[in-house]
Amino acid sequence: MFRPALPLLLAAAAVPGLCAQKPLHLAPVVDPHSYGNPQDIRVTHIGLDLTVDFAKKELRGTALLTVKHEKPDTTNLVLDTHGLVIERIQAANGKLLSTATFKLGPEDKILGAPLEIEIPKDATSVQITYRTQPGAGGLQWLDPSMTAGKKDPYLFSQSESIYGRTWIPMQDSPAVRVTYTAIIHTPKNLRAVMSAEQDLTNRRTGTYFFKMDKAIPTYLIALAVGDISFQPLGKRAGVWSEPSMLPKAAWELADTEKMIEAAEKLYGPYRWGRYDILVLPPSFPYGGMENPRLTFATPTILAGDRSLVSLVAHELAHSWSGNLVTNATWGDVWLNEGFTTYVERRIVEALYGRANEEMQAVLGRQTLDGLIKDLPADQTILRPDLKGQDPDNSLSEIPYEKGAIFMRLLEQTFGRKRFDAFLRGYMNHFAFHSITTEDFEAYLKAHLFPLNEKAAAKIPLDAWLYQPGLPSDVPNPHSDLFDKVDAARTAWLKEGDIAALPYAKWSTQERLRFLLALPDTLTLDQMKALDDAFHITEKGNAEVEDVWLLLAIQHGYAPADARMRAYMIEIGRRKLIVPLYQALAKTPEGKAKALDIYKAARPGYHPIAQATVDGVLGVKF
Ligand code: BES
Ligand code: ZN
Repeated sequence: MFRPALPLLLAAAAVPGLCAQKPLHLAPVVDPHSYGNPQDIRVTHIGLDLTVDFAKKELRGTALLTVKHEKPDTTNLVLDTHGLVIERIQAANGKLLSTATFKLGPEDKILGAPLEIEIPKDATSVQITYRTQPGAGGLQWLDPSMTAGKKDPYLFSQSESIYGRTWIPMQDSPAVRVTYTAIIHTPKNLRAVMSAEQDLTNRRTGTYFFKMDKAIPTYLIALAVGDISFQPLGKRAGVWSEPSMLPKAAWELADTEKMIEAAEKLYGPYRWGRYDILVLPPSFPYGGMENPRLTFATPTILAGDRSLVSLVAHELAHSWSGNLVTNATWGDVWLNEGFTTYVERRIVEALYGRANEEMQAVLGRQTLDGLIKDLPADQTILRPDLKGQDPDNSLSEIPYEKGAIFMRLLEQTFGRKRFDAFLRGYMNHFAFHSITTEDFEAYLKAHLFPLNEKAAAKIPLDAWLYQPGLPSDVPNPHSDLFDKVDAARTAWLKEGDIAALPYAKWSTQERLRFLLALPDTLTLDQMKALDDAFHITEKGNAEVEDVWLLLAIQHGYAPADARMRAYMIEIGRRKLIVPLYQALAKTPEGKAKALDIYKAARPGYHPIAQATVDGVLGVKF
């Protein structure tokens, strides 16, 4: 069990950067989404001591930041905040605490407000006494009714991309890496968990200690508090959730240990010690979030048949692409998400076979083609300029799918053996660093391209990284299983023989393929025939349901109305609900329905999901 040897406050100042390897000399980065000045004074460690107050929906306490003077004479430390109430700031050098003067600048809607602190030249740490506000964008405070147990409240954080600053004053940039420790005080009957080393017993004390001694980007600091218990899955892996969900979660996630082994074969050793998964309440706005040592996941992955566990492969792959080697700015996010989507599919292939990988890759290609058709050209660039934009609102699946298919192209061009060796070399070389697309480009040209100069010359690298759309020579994944699905769909559309349709026997991916390519011209009788035969309008696999509900909206299939309402009220995962609101908003009747559902659903959504749906429906609160 982890117990801090020293009072954490003292230990905090003593923990060095702890990168085992010598630092690389990378060009300084300007992050357009941070006010921080790490080039002058850099925050290297954060020691949190926070009380979780459910009645006030507030975190309050102190953040003790260890700082390093990069420019010896600078005395102005600049941090990011967003909606924080700053009560007092003290500077210290070892022991002496002196009050520091500070200024909170004007608040920008996207970036929040800079916090400028005047500190002595020899100060080594700064202690900030502060509290959060109930509307903090990076926190969701759930009433007991929104949990599985219905008895206790729940709190969770979601810091990526720039919401960490809504609950911790810090230099909130993926280019700033910190170690951290935390003491979290909660109501006695609840448990706190974080993306760090922690006690794995189910003892509830109301005071919990955490330590992350590897330098991570600030968006990976994560906290959840509730009626949360632990169950081991294997040597290195385990699952946390509300007690009533633990058995189901443990069954669904049983392959986790094998996934870690498959990922290690590709990427090199797993460097974080444990890999645990926290299954959250359904309002979690994402499918998964790769918080180190503790992936946060939507309960919608618990499909009952392990059909959605590629999400775990994805979050696990981020333990390398993302957490070990991190995008230096949000414009470089494809380095996190594109690499990870590619490796997610390699893990799927290793565990579940090539045919499964092919289905995922084909679905990905289909998504990509759709995006390229629908999005304005400048939003299809792999490395966009996001200055002035909200990195979350501008995030599409482009960095995921265009990035992944670019990786696939490199694999095909240089061969799997060489490409895998390249990936391992890249992970080792840049481990514990935050890098830009240019850093990647230089490494690629130095370490992969020379292995086959002729093939390299055919890759339009500039077009891939910096131009819209898709270059002409794009890999075209193929799935024989999908050919069969397509043939079955065509036959059914032509002959109407529902008994001949093997839908019930299909996997989730085959069902998605079938539903996604149904024509716009489907009749209500055809919708009903599918539904009667296969009971698709029922609580089931959340991703299949989502596509079915979209079809229902598109075709005005009323029998799905009640289920649609329940689905949109229960689930807060942005990727699933936003397309439904968008589809409804296309007609006046649909929009009225959407507003009615949203009235009931909004209080249960995460602030990030609320902001997105507010935008879709053009409503202000
Ligand atoms: N890191 C992302 C989630 C994220 C990205 C949050 C950008 C905030 C800003 C995570 O790894 C992710 O990609 N989740 C996906 C699931 C995945 C299987 C594609 C999701 O939530 O849908
Ligand atoms: Zn991801």
